[in-house]
Amino acid sequence: MLPTELISYKQTGRSIAILTAWDSMSARIVEAAGAEVVLVGDSLSMVVLGHSTTLPVTLEQMLHHTQAVGRGFKNPINKQPLVICDLPFLSYQCGEEKAVEAAGTLIKNSCASAVKLEGAEPEIIEVIERLIRMGIPVMGHLGLTPQSVHQLGYRRQAEDLESQQKIIDQGLKLQEAGCFALVIEHVPSNIAAKLRKKLRIPLIGIGAGEECDGQVRVTADLLGLSEKQPPFAEKLIPGSNLFTNILKEWVDKQNQSPKIPTTEEHL
Ligand code: KIV
Repeated sequence: MLPTELISYKQTGRSIAILTAWDSMSARIVEAAGAEVVLVGDSLSMVVLGHSTTLPVTLEQMLHHTQAVGRGFKNPINKQPLVICDLPFLSYQCGEEKAVEAAGTLIKNSCASAVKLEGAEPEIIEVIERLIRMGIPVMGHLGLTPQSVHQLGYRRQAEDLESQQKIIDQGLKLQEAGCFALVIEHVPSNIAAKLRKKLRIPLIGIGAGEECDGQVRVTADLLGLSEKQPPFAEKLIPGSNLFTNILKEWVDKQNQSPKIPTTEEHL
């Protein structure tokens, strides 16, 4: 599927479900679950690599994990999910050249056919326009942008009228710059709903209410495997507990099984 085809989903009122994946095992599972779009999010920095923010993950690590995701898909190539990969912190904030090189490296060497990046400041808009001119589809990301954690924290965004208007303006600017879709994270649902109505491109929510054109979730959050669960992320099963208990049963059984004779006892 081409990234721009998601625009026709919005036109026909078809909802878009996006799940994250970070390796071949998670890719196999989300593909089998029917996700048509898979995000290799930089949340893997926290969920998989154990960092406390998304900032430390490198371009090389994003590439390594995206390649593993590609190896995990089992459907014929034309039936595999569309893969979007996050551009990590500092791979696009230092200018257009560096951004083209980073995004190009991901697209050239992995199954990703689009990149996602955060924010809508004038410099970011220029980067997005350049990437799109170079043939690289871009998804935007507004609201809570975790790469700005030291400025925004993990608080809900757009709480006052001024920042609500700013988000609406930024959404329209990202659309004008050529993004094929936007993620909106952790904002009041009425603001996401208002922005959605103004956009021609799909608005994909997380912690932004139901009135979006689609939803994205961190798969590890849904499965109850994340160490830190964001307040707006639902947990479908207590995965960590389930897995720990079942493995504990196995370990205990091994520990209680009859002692294996030592080599000396054998003789
Ligand atoms: O990194 C990520 O997983 C994301 C989602 C939260 C949208 O950006």
